[in-house]
Amino acid sequence: MQLRPFEPADDAALISWLRTPEELYIFTGPRLTFPLDSAQLDEIRADATLTPFTATVDGAAVGHIELVSTGEARARIARVLVDPERQGQGLGEQLLRAVLGEARERGIRRLTLRVVPTNARAIALYEKLGFVLTGTEEGMNLMELRAG
Ligand SMILES: CC(C)(COP(=O)(O)OP(=O)(O)OC[C@H]1O[C@@H](n2cnc3c(N)ncnc32)[C@H](O)[C@@H]1OP(=O)(O)O)[C@@H](O)C(=O)NCCC(=O)NCCS
Repeated sequence: MQLRPFEPADDAALISWLRTPEELYIFTGPRLTFPLDSAQLDEIRADATLTPFTATVDGAAVGHIELVSTGEARARIARVLVDPERQGQGLGEQLLRAVLGEARERGIRRLTLRVVPTNARAIALYEKLGFVLTGTEEGMNLMELRAG
């Protein structure tokens, strides 16, 4: 699993992985509108607080993930997605481990994320990697991972 910058050439794959408004909501909350399009993805790329990545295996795109700067040595993980045809095969865990490595390289000591409370699969994955529930916000579960 490799992470590289999310580019316009990645839009078609990402759009195809989000097949329904429900899937889009689980991915991003209320901030984007179904169907996703390149204009909305250009806005993500233009946001200087975000670092969006495309995850690849053997050069082929298999997932998407973002790091959002939230302060000194702090960041939030956002918009986590594995190609639906490849979910449940361990790629989500690899994706999270890869972004944890990126965060470490950037000196980030405290990582947070928000997850829909009914998304048991994602919550199980985050807990496996050491995230703990710290509260709720706007109907979402807040989770946090602290370095060392
Ligand atoms: C959440 C997601 C990224 C996980 O990726 P994945 O490739 O499916 O997950 P993995 O195969 O790496 O599984 C990792 C862990 O997730 C959990 N998990 C995976 N499939 C599960 C399922 N069907 N039910 C419950 N837990 C499950 C397990 O803890 C698993 O670890 P284990 O195999 O040791 O039991 C992926 O399913 C996805 O893109 N879902 C849709 C978008 C989404 O929910 N994004 C998160 C927004 S916060």
